[in-house]
Amino acid sequence: MTNSSATPIRWTEDGTGLVILDQTRLPEEVIEVELRSVQDIFDAIFTLKVRGAPLIGITAAMGVAALARQDEMAEPKILRYDVGRWCDYFATARPTAVNLSWALARMRDITRENEDDDTETLVAELAAEAQAIWDEDVRMCAAIGEHAVGLIPEGGRVLTHCNAGALATGGIGTALAPIYLAHERGNTMEVFAGETRPLLQGSRLTAWELKQAGLDVRVITDSMAGAFFQRTPPDVVLVGADRIAANGDVANKIGTYGLAIFAKHHGVPFYVLAPTSTIDLDAGSADDIPIEHRGEDEVRNGFGKLTSPADVPIWSPAFDVTPADLITGIVTENGVLNAPYAAGLEAAVGAADEAVAVAMDAEAEVTEEE
Ligand code: MRU
Repeated sequence: MTNSSATPIRWTEDGTGLVILDQTRLPEEVIEVELRSVQDIFDAIFTLKVRGAPLIGITAAMGVAALARQDEMAEPKILRYDVGRWCDYFATARPTAVNLSWALARMRDITRENEDDDTETLVAELAAEAQAIWDEDVRMCAAIGEHAVGLIPEGGRVLTHCNAGALATGGIGTALAPIYLAHERGNTMEVFAGETRPLLQGSRLTAWELKQAGLDVRVITDSMAGAFFQRTPPDVVLVGADRIAANGDVANKIGTYGLAIFAKHHGVPFYVLAPTSTIDLDAGSADDIPIEHRGEDEVRNGFGKLTSPADVPIWSPAFDVTPADLITGIVTENGVLNAPYAAGLEAAVGAADEAVAVAMDAEAEVTEEE
């Protein structure tokens, strides 16, 4: 159903590897890379060849399944041990986006729940779980889009930050999902993509994928945001999330918090769009969200040009946290939540867990009948 042309991941033909779009090369070059080893998969996530909270969870899960397919001759005991090792390692690649550890926990659970299975069965179950994580994300993106499409006025102006689109998920994105749907339904809105220093996910990736899909998109640099709100404010701000705490505090790409303050000051609604896999009920508030810090060279020498003296230290958190009270609403696949968020977030996670359990029961019944 997507009218986005960006497909960031697929299985290799034999299923023992992954093919990803190398997002570090966009928009200059559209290059696919094959991932076959543990190190390939870790590095692709760590270096942001694949990025975006849902997509790194999907990549890690598919990576575990692909590696398991390579291990088809191993004793079940050894395969279980290997899966545990891979999951532990991949989870360290990027600490803020909870979707990564969430997806890996599901893969680890497969080896724990099916203790008597032989290797062949276990490999098939791991592949099915990884595919389910991907398929669920496709559905969650579509549902988020449906719940949020009405937030964009006809012919309106939408500001987004970083990339929370098809390049960041298994489907049509989170923050970009309503934008794709609105476009499909004839809304001639104008989209503004915040550049997103230092790795430029907004100008390199969001602008690229929206342009590919035929949308009207314009880039502003991060330092232009204040003047943008003052002089030509957007009608709505739509952003994604890397982790949503139980009280509604939201970690997202560095720069999001500043936009939320501008939005509040100028009376512009500010919405966070994310699947329930991004909600971490174990994190009570912002204080419990680990913030990833990136290497100094991403700021100092990011695109092959020295932009700061080589011996000046750099502070480089990849994410910031927007407090719940700056957020107009949080949109998940289950609908739009408004403050206070705690009960709604808990209910949304409960409903999602229930849906997965029902799907698993249905699948088990089909398997039994066969
Ligand atoms: O460092 P990145 O590019 O992985 O950061 C991505 C973001 O911050 C996105 O907004 C978030 O992951 C949501 S993607 C649907």
